[in-house]
Amino acid sequence: MKILNFGSLNIDYVYQVDHFVREGETISSDSLETFCGGKGLNQSLALSKSGVKVWHAGAVGAQDGEILTEELERFGVDTRNIKRLKNKTGHAIIQKSPKGQNGILLFGGANQDITRDQVDHVLSEFGKGDFLILQNEINEVGYIMEQAYGKGLRIVLNPSPMNSRIWIYPLHFVEFFILNEIEAEDICQKSGSGEELLNLLAEKFPKAKILLTLGQDGSLYKDGSLVVKQAIYPVAVVDTTGAGDTFTGYFIGGLALGEAPEQALDHAAKAASIAVSRAGAAPSIPMRDEVIKSY
Ligand code: ATP
Ligand code: RIB
Repeated sequence: MKILNFGSLNIDYVYQVDHFVREGETISSDSLETFCGGKGLNQSLALSKSGVKVWHAGAVGAQDGEILTEELERFGVDTRNIKRLKNKTGHAIIQKSPKGQNGILLFGGANQDITRDQVDHVLSEFGKGDFLILQNEINEVGYIMEQAYGKGLRIVLNPSPMNSRIWIYPLHFVEFFILNEIEAEDICQKSGSGEELLNLLAEKFPKAKILLTLGQDGSLYKDGSLVVKQAIYPVAVVDTTGAGDTFTGYFIGGLALGEAPEQALDHAAKAASIAVSRAGAAPSIPMRDEVIKSY
């Protein structure tokens, strides 16, 4: 069984601010740090650091994307299916508040230049029973899902960031939804408690397993009649960017290693708590040894 992540790669520019910039306002930032990021790259690193082999597919700019492919390779991710294009590498402008919360502006760049030829070529290397991890930061997600499902891949969708493209995806092909409360409310077109949203999602997608993350309130997982509630491991928060990506990578990585959902969730919560106690997205993701030893 192989794990393919077809996802975004970004350079993150993180500005420390005392409040998020408002309409018509100009503010100064206190500092600027640059990190590797993108939901796709973060999730590949989290998967790899959790102990599984990952194949990443996507696109970066030929001029400015090497830092991202090198970071993935440093942690053993296969990058042969990352295309180097004329367009710029994707980036994120991230405002970080004193409490470690963020506001993010994305520039898609090469992440939005995925072609159907690339998809067909990548998927020719994968088959029945392999995992496919997807987020919503590249184009052609719907096409990737259709082709992958036809070949028997097991689809994990993190529908983040939410936008109107979600409605054209064949969501009934998804085996695992991993999403936060806001994304769940958008998909259900309804607000509600964590439990209510979990049940609504399970009604809407009866064949799927649902993992709903609730920030400081932990997470809820439902697979048929199995419902697991996972609390957080409290820490002093430095930067929440990438918490969800770390959680996703460790959860799917754990299942792929043969862990029961309860154990994979516990490891995911520990890994995400370590990630929020550090700066940046990709560099904040811990290795499995650290996760096991820390608690
Ligand atoms: P992001 O978009 O910031 O990466 P998200 O919205 O996708 O995150 P969250 O629900 O905020 O995901 O967080 C995912 C998981 O990370 C939570 O279920 C929890 O286990 C952990 N986590 C989040 N915030 C904290 C925190 N303040 N302290 C400890 N763990 C946290
Ligand atoms: O989930 C965090 C990521 O979202 C950041 O690394 C940023 O690049 C955006 O894609």
